[in-house]
Amino acid sequence: MKAVYIHIPFCSSICNYCDFSKMYYDKKMVNKYLETLEKEIITTYKKEKIKTIYIGGGTPSSLDLDELKKLFKILDIFDKSEIEEYTIECNIDNTNLEKLLLFKEKGINRISFGVQSFNDETLKILGRKHNEKMIKDTISLTKKVGINNINIDLIYGIKNQTLDDLKKDVEKFLKLDVPHISLYSLIIEPHTKLYINNFQSIDEDINANMYNYINKTLKENNYNHYEISNYAKEGYKSKHNLVYWNNMQYYGFGLGASSYVGNVRYDNTRSLTSYLKGNYILNKNVLTERETMENEMILGLRLTSGVNKKGFYKKYNKQVEDVFDIKELLSKKLLIDKNDHYFIPEDKLFISNSILIEFLE
Ligand SMILES: C[S@@+](CC[C@H](N)C(=O)[O-])C[C@H]1O[C@@H](n2cnc3c(N)ncnc32)[C@H](O)[C@@H]1O
Ligand code: SF4
Repeated sequence: MKAVYIHIPFCSSICNYCDFSKMYYDKKMVNKYLETLEKEIITTYKKEKIKTIYIGGGTPSSLDLDELKKLFKILDIFDKSEIEEYTIECNIDNTNLEKLLLFKEKGINRISFGVQSFNDETLKILGRKHNEKMIKDTISLTKKVGINNINIDLIYGIKNQTLDDLKKDVEKFLKLDVPHISLYSLIIEPHTKLYINNFQSIDEDINANMYNYINKTLKENNYNHYEISNYAKEGYKSKHNLVYWNNMQYYGFGLGASSYVGNVRYDNTRSLTSYLKGNYILNKNVLTERETMENEMILGLRLTSGVNKKGFYKKYNKQVEDVFDIKELLSKKLLIDKNDHYFIPEDKLFISNSILIEFLE
């Protein structure tokens, strides 16, 4: 086991599109939550050396300085002697110098900021509380404390947004000079404010144009498109997220977190009441070999490099084409067989869900 995900479900405000496991920040709850998180880790962690830790949310940066210190004290339990990547997710509106200095002191070497857009109008639609100046100031402060491995999340494909608006967002991102970006097309999830208010989806063709524009522009600016929604400068791919896409094992601790340990996938409960009572796990799914191979394809084909055929054979003692009927996908050029890899061509990654479904029995 080399990777650990820690979920902090608290947020200072709730965004209009968000379906993650999250709730309003509440000081009393944070205290109880951290105590429970510590217990959960102690009962499961087997003292392995950890290569990547990802503190995600929710909004980990919504915790105050003392709560963050308490969190890092809990995370001292992990053997970090060989740690390579230690990420924390932050929001622009609750990250400040004191917190950044604490992150640096505690060994955090990568920060992922939820920026979503630089456009005030778009930010308002999404329900975000920051503005363009705050983004610039926070990124520059982060670099000043010596954390340069920075990711920015942006959302595009929002009804009313034009290709021109997107171009401006991408231009402003490029000016920040950070080495990684995740770009997500807006999904209107049930139970969110956007859904309840009947907010409409963008036209499919406009959305596809936006995706192609993003791919082209980021490539021209030396960002390697390495996963459907992720782009990185040389040496800055997310090591932690690659663990997921390479179908490797990981621990997940906290509300709603998932784990993959042995041949079992676990989903933690999303009910805070159950979690605080110590009933951490909601689902436990013992995988068959077939399911493991399906995951290998479905996750691996999210990467532009795709699935390594020899690697697959080494793991399962079977050829990909003997397990999955991929003739039609190959003949339609929805799947490419090249340099000992199967991969989805970049211009088809946008419709990858309809391709990946073919790998499910
Ligand atoms: C784990 S989430 C939240 C991280 C952090 N709390 C924040 O909001 O900045 C990671 C990213 O997923 C994206 N995301 C979340 N919900 C989405 C949705 N409904 N459609 C598209 N992207 C979404 C956002 O870009 C978000 O920053
Ligand atoms: S998008 Fe991030 S900040 Fe907004 S509600 Fe979801 S987890 Fe919280």
